[in-house]
Amino acid sequence: MPYPFQITSLDQYHQDHKKSVDDPEGFWGNIADNFLWKQKWQKVLNWNFKEPKIEWFRGGKLNITENCIDRHLAEMGEKPAIIWEPNNPEERTRIVTYNRLHKRVCQFAQVLRNNGVKKGDRVCIYMGMIPELAYAVLGCARVGAIHSVIFGGFSAQSIADRLEDAQAEYIVTCDGAYRGGKDIPLKSVIDDALVGNKKVKRVIVYTRTRTPVSMIKGRDVWWEDEMEHAEAQVEKQGVVSFPAEEMDAEDPLFILYTSGSTGKPKGVVHSSAGYMVWTTYTFVNVFQYKPGEIHFCTADIGWITGHSYIVYGPLSAGATSLMFEGIPTWPDAGRFWDIVAKHKVNILYTAPTAIRSLMGFGDEPLKDKDLSSLRILGTVGEPINEEAWHWYDEKIGHKNCPIVDTWWQTETGGTLISNLAGVTPAIPSWASLPMPGIQPVLVDENGHEVTEKDEHGHLKGNLCIKAPWPGILRTTYGDHERCRKNYFATYENLYFTGDGALKDDKGNYRITGRVDDVLNVSGHRIGTAEVENAINMHAGVVESAVVGYHHDIKGQGIYAYVIFQGRHINDEMTRMDILQTVSRIIGPIAKPDKIQFVTGLPKTRSGKIMRRILRKIAEGELDSLGDVSTLLDPAVVDEIKNNRL
Ligand code: PRX
Repeated sequence: MPYPFQITSLDQYHQDHKKSVDDPEGFWGNIADNFLWKQKWQKVLNWNFKEPKIEWFRGGKLNITENCIDRHLAEMGEKPAIIWEPNNPEERTRIVTYNRLHKRVCQFAQVLRNNGVKKGDRVCIYMGMIPELAYAVLGCARVGAIHSVIFGGFSAQSIADRLEDAQAEYIVTCDGAYRGGKDIPLKSVIDDALVGNKKVKRVIVYTRTRTPVSMIKGRDVWWEDEMEHAEAQVEKQGVVSFPAEEMDAEDPLFILYTSGSTGKPKGVVHSSAGYMVWTTYTFVNVFQYKPGEIHFCTADIGWITGHSYIVYGPLSAGATSLMFEGIPTWPDAGRFWDIVAKHKVNILYTAPTAIRSLMGFGDEPLKDKDLSSLRILGTVGEPINEEAWHWYDEKIGHKNCPIVDTWWQTETGGTLISNLAGVTPAIPSWASLPMPGIQPVLVDENGHEVTEKDEHGHLKGNLCIKAPWPGILRTTYGDHERCRKNYFATYENLYFTGDGALKDDKGNYRITGRVDDVLNVSGHRIGTAEVENAINMHAGVVESAVVGYHHDIKGQGIYAYVIFQGRHINDEMTRMDILQTVSRIIGPIAKPDKIQFVTGLPKTRSGKIMRRILRKIAEGELDSLGDVSTLLDPAVVDEIKNNRL
């Protein structure tokens, strides 16, 4: 058996789950023994959800990059760590062996050091999906700096807010990024984000697109120059080395900003050791990874999925991780299938939104594509509808590949609920069973465990977790109270996920979606309050309310109700102006799909917007709005209904 902690049967799953609950310290201590430590821990777990205070492997010292790279070098130095597929299929693929990855990460760590980066410093990374992004992430981890990767779809304003919140002094970026037919000028977005910023000392710029960039003297340096200089420092007589910083188990590894129900994204902080153990353990078990296999996770490293299942999990397991720069529909809708065939991909992990979108192109893009290398399929990010699940199963997996439906969140670090490929049963549109270490519970509004079953025999409630697992978030950066309030205060002694779920009598879970004001648009997490704030920035907007509605491809679309009293030529022009405003404030990913102009919003007498009613109208459920007579202005509901888009 390649990994001592790999679960290979349903029985073993049940046994391991039981062990993890009965004796979490014994269970996770044994698993953590399979990693490289500079010093062993003294205590496996300390916790309370009240503060919250969660410590895994306290006293242990390590560096995650030694686990992701150095420990594989002796036996697998020449094995590919990263296979990189460029946006343009005509361009050359790059294969980064573990030896090469080691060299580049050491070099980049030296670059960071040469530029003054120290342990604990925050480094923002804003790059396209190129191997250098992985080098940058791992280079930070090597010197003990805290990376905060920002997805390329966020605007200058969003970056500025994140830089400010993280108090970041360093940025790593590219001149531009290729995505499909587009060439996105990343450095120029960074320049806009830095107007007025006095904190950032250094911007390191990698050349990808040869877009003209303004390099500011004393602040901006070229990646290539810096790497060249560092090469001689880390390579002596053919031996590459850069001593990995000794990190405490609980030292923060990274910050990743994510949306919540307030207007301001929060910086989720993950630890070094617990996150490493969790991502590796879940990677190996969920995908049933076998050494030598090629794992293709189609996410962007700007999101947690890319952090955990392109970079840290696979590399720590010594796997080969395929990284793709482009998008599934360019140059045509067969691109994923070309990549699978070209690189003989064994595990394909993607989002339901991508599956639905590709499904829409019919069978043509699949013609003559050799998908026979595929062994396992996976989905993540949102509930998968049965139609998409079956299409994935039949057309891509040829009914031969187990599909894992992995439910998790930025805050959870890695998968919490999923079947284990081919080991525990797959049920279409059910995430199914909790991983060892995970004790889910469904509660009602008052935090009582639900016990009454619905007509299908399912329990239904808000999904919480009873005890910590190694990959749980530790805090939200700079504001621990916010972390407590957001996740640990809704229900006493429970971590609240923000999702609703069903549970069947075999213990399987089906995630039904968010129960808070968070949207999931094409797998991107967006807060309704954030979108409202952005819309309200437009000079003519008096007030707005944003809700989600069912969207066939995106899962959820964004529906905005807007009271507008500004200069108005026609609705279409004003809509475009509002969209432009949202793009500027958050980024194109948050642009509403529909904007309805209204003269008022349904509010309670105390002034609270009745989103429930707006949601129903957006969904077209006009006959089930319930009692509206207690509203401040009931007539407004009819107006909104009549003008529904
Ligand atoms: O609502 C759940 C949904 O995505 C949310 C987390 O979003 P984010 O932090 O961006 O992380 C996405 C990638 C892990 C969850 O609260 N979600 C994620 N995976 C699933 C899912 N909903 C249903 N089924 C899933 N497999």
